[in-house]
Amino acid sequence: VTEASISFDRAADFYDATRALPPHVQEPLTRTILSEVRSAGAERLLEVGIGTGRIARPLLERGLAVTGVDISLRMMERLSQQLGPRDAGPDLLLGDATRLPLADSSFRAALFVHVLHLVPGWESALAETRRVLASGGVALLYYERYESETLWGRRSEEKWVELLRQRGFARRRRPSREEIAGELERLGGSRRILELAEDVDRNTPATILEWTRLRVHSWTWEIPEELFFECLPEYESWLRREFDMDRELGDRAVYELEVWRFP
Ligand SMILES: C[S@@+](CC[C@H](N)C(=O)[O-])C[C@H]1O[C@@H](n2cnc3c(N)ncnc32)[C@H](O)[C@@H]1O
Repeated sequence: VTEASISFDRAADFYDATRALPPHVQEPLTRTILSEVRSAGAERLLEVGIGTGRIARPLLERGLAVTGVDISLRMMERLSQQLGPRDAGPDLLLGDATRLPLADSSFRAALFVHVLHLVPGWESALAETRRVLASGGVALLYYERYESETLWGRRSEEKWVELLRQRGFARRRRPSREEIAGELERLGGSRRILELAEDVDRNTPATILEWTRLRVHSWTWEIPEELFFECLPEYESWLRREFDMDRELGDRAVYELEVWRFP
């Protein structure tokens, strides 16, 4: 399963520059995670797919003990390089979410941010989380919900699906938020959804085209190089036909934390 998960080795050097959360999201996220970890009676948080520590570093700065697991050594190296001189470093383990190198019932809180959709064996990753959580433990899942996705992000995605399908390439299926929720429920969890913040995400089609061209986002990585650059000109002409390239389009975003408690 390790081979098939999407490692972020290739993104280690540009991940932080392209994925920073705005302070009005990062701050309530940090605060809410800290408070949920405390109310679950956890002394240490497990973050599965810890990456460069975008989420974990502010938690470490506030004194929370963290154990991180990731399949990408390069991402975790970037994390270590960015720790402040006084920050307690996290325990970092090179390992796979579907086979956590951790004992049964050894944590009371686990965190997932932007990782489950990258793991083909996501059901096993959730079963593993259940296994390492003690009774009364919580799994915290962070999500961004874009309300007008249909307008434009979704249309771009559909365009790529079509372009790739015409050339006989099927994109890998990623689990939806509700599929993940269904599995957590099956594992005995009960959910609370906490709203952290909302705003309007603004981008021009020109920016989106540039990010696509640079293959910043992980959905582009599974497409073979040659095929990707064969589709790109057609995507670009479609985008230029359908949209005013320099007009900002707003997408209302709601930032949420799901708290799953297990008996
Ligand atoms: C989009 S990044 C998110 C990193 C961090 N959670 C954050 O929000 O900044 C996804 C991370 O999950 C890791 N990952 C992917 N599949 C994994 C797996 N099967 N087990 C553990 N980590 C995995 C990637 O290497 C990458 O570092």
